[in-house]
Amino acid sequence: MLLWRTLEIFVSLSLLPVGSALQNGVGVKPAMGYNPYNAFLCATTEAQYHTVAQSVISLGLNTLGYNYFNIDCGWQATVRDSAGKITWDTTILPSGVPALATFVHNLGLKFGVYSDGGVFACDFVGGTAHYLGSLGHETSDAATFAGWGADYLKYDNCYAVNSTDFVDFNPPISIGTHYVTMRDALAATGRPILFSACEWGVQDPARWPASAVANSWRISNDIGPPASWDNLFRIINQVVPITQFAGPGGFNDLDMLEVGNSGLTADEQQTHFAFWAAVKSPLIISTNLSAISAQSLSILKNTRIIAVNQDALGKSIAFKRRYTNDHDVWSGPLADGSTVAVVINWQTTSRSLTFNLADVGFSSATATDLITGASLGKLTTSFTTTLAAHGALVLKLTGGVAAPAPTFTFYPATAGTLAGGAAPRVVNASVTVVGFVGSGGTLTLSGVDGGAAGGTKLLAFDYINGDFTFTNTACSNCRNVFVGVNGGAGVQVQMPISAQTWDILFSGYLVELPGFKPGKTNTITLSNPSAFAPDFYRVGVAV
Ligand SMILES: *[C@@H]1O[C@H](CO)[C@@H](O)[C@H](O)[C@H]1NC(C)=O
Ligand SMILES: *[C@@H]1O[C@H](CO)[C@@H](O)[C@H](O)[C@H]1NC(C)=O
Ligand SMILES: *[C@@H]1O[C@H](CO)[C@@H](O)[C@H](O)[C@H]1NC(C)=O
Repeated sequence: MLLWRTLEIFVSLSLLPVGSALQNGVGVKPAMGYNPYNAFLCATTEAQYHTVAQSVISLGLNTLGYNYFNIDCGWQATVRDSAGKITWDTTILPSGVPALATFVHNLGLKFGVYSDGGVFACDFVGGTAHYLGSLGHETSDAATFAGWGADYLKYDNCYAVNSTDFVDFNPPISIGTHYVTMRDALAATGRPILFSACEWGVQDPARWPASAVANSWRISNDIGPPASWDNLFRIINQVVPITQFAGPGGFNDLDMLEVGNSGLTADEQQTHFAFWAAVKSPLIISTNLSAISAQSLSILKNTRIIAVNQDALGKSIAFKRRYTNDHDVWSGPLADGSTVAVVINWQTTSRSLTFNLADVGFSSATATDLITGASLGKLTTSFTTTLAAHGALVLKLTGGVAAPAPTFTFYPATAGTLAGGAAPRVVNASVTVVGFVGSGGTLTLSGVDGGAAGGTKLLAFDYINGDFTFTNTACSNCRNVFVGVNGGAGVQVQMPISAQTWDILFSGYLVELPGFKPGKTNTITLSNPSAFAPDFYRVGVAV
């Protein structure tokens, strides 16, 4: 749990006043468009760009809002031209980038270019050569991109530290300054260019805050290729603590879509698309459109889900509740006063699932299924349906009646009995948590009130988990705690990260557990036999 604390030193610089969203006239809603990378990697040829851009039109995707056509890595030359300007690889693009921009504009699409805020771009050329990066050339390159007619810039982060450090997830410099420099260079061109920061979530861009620097910022390492459900799980956990930073003009970018690509089932693609849409991530299609299945295409063309993404309020869904290894519930507001709820089935089989309306704050509401378009009428208390393996339920809820909010009696972790290495940790003047729970360490709270009847109780955990990751692990961007009531077997509870640092609380993680006795006679033991749990601040037990 100490591993990542050094990061704080570099992310605390205040780049701009908090709350000043980038006002560059574009990117007010999440970007929608196409980028070939997840299917074609860095080797996309001019002919492929032409074919796939025409497919965006022939498949009618442009009419649904997919208006940006972006190039990715692999287009640059390895040396600048005689005037020092960035230029292209004539093998890949014999007609050149300006001609491609014209081709794309003539189709009625906007054109996006790609560069890198480091010494070199990411992709491997062979030998000692590298494709060009923009570091130190920002003013010139921004002017060149504007001159070519670029409407969008995806700005990567390879070789950001120096010419030998390829990818650095813990760089010894502030990465944000590179993005500020390019933001200002783009502004100086006078051309509105959507600025897409792609530094993979390094140094927690949502908290720079990147909303003052870019129209979107990647929150995580790449989604692929290859696509996988494990990658989705890693990224979904990573957005938990930063959903509040999405707003008009600036959005969390969960990376380009894998809809249409191998590695995800059709149901997983559906869940991926709906979640990305509702979290207000850019929706950038990234598959070979010449080979897309009717099923994948219909996922991308769901106008009800697209409308959630493009909703004028621009607010992300937020994490509400995790039923560990079973399902997640997320929800958020829409401009018309309604609520969108997204339920993810973590189970690997088709199953009956009951969505409790109280998990999104309602006792009743009128629901529409946004995947199918079916009206479900008025739902009271809960709704039970069948969900496919890794499938999702996506509901628009109107006329919601508020459910009574539970009240909790709180038990501070520092008042518990600590054993096996568990120890208090001072976070700041007002917050001390108990760390080193798990891997032998235990925290036991005693005298817990089971009320008049005991039985099953709703618990609310306030914890800190800064154990973020750029690669898939056993619990990517989460930690497990096992919660035992009155010495009973510990129940696994999986807690997503609360930040990329160890000083920000997640408040009110809810879990319902049986086994309480009446009166102030209960114990709750937190442990994990094989790994560290989060650090705990307090546990609430519903009165
Ligand atoms: C590049 O930066 C890395 C740290 O990010 C450092 O280990 C390495 O020595 C640096 N190389 C040069 C040539 O400065
Ligand atoms: C894209 O799909 C077409 C049609 O199946 C195929 O001919 C082509 O090779 C594919 N391109 C790539 C890069 O996979
Ligand atoms: C202490 O940390 C908590 C959790 O991040 C935060 O809510 C609180 O504002 C902090 N208090 C002070 C005095 O810094």
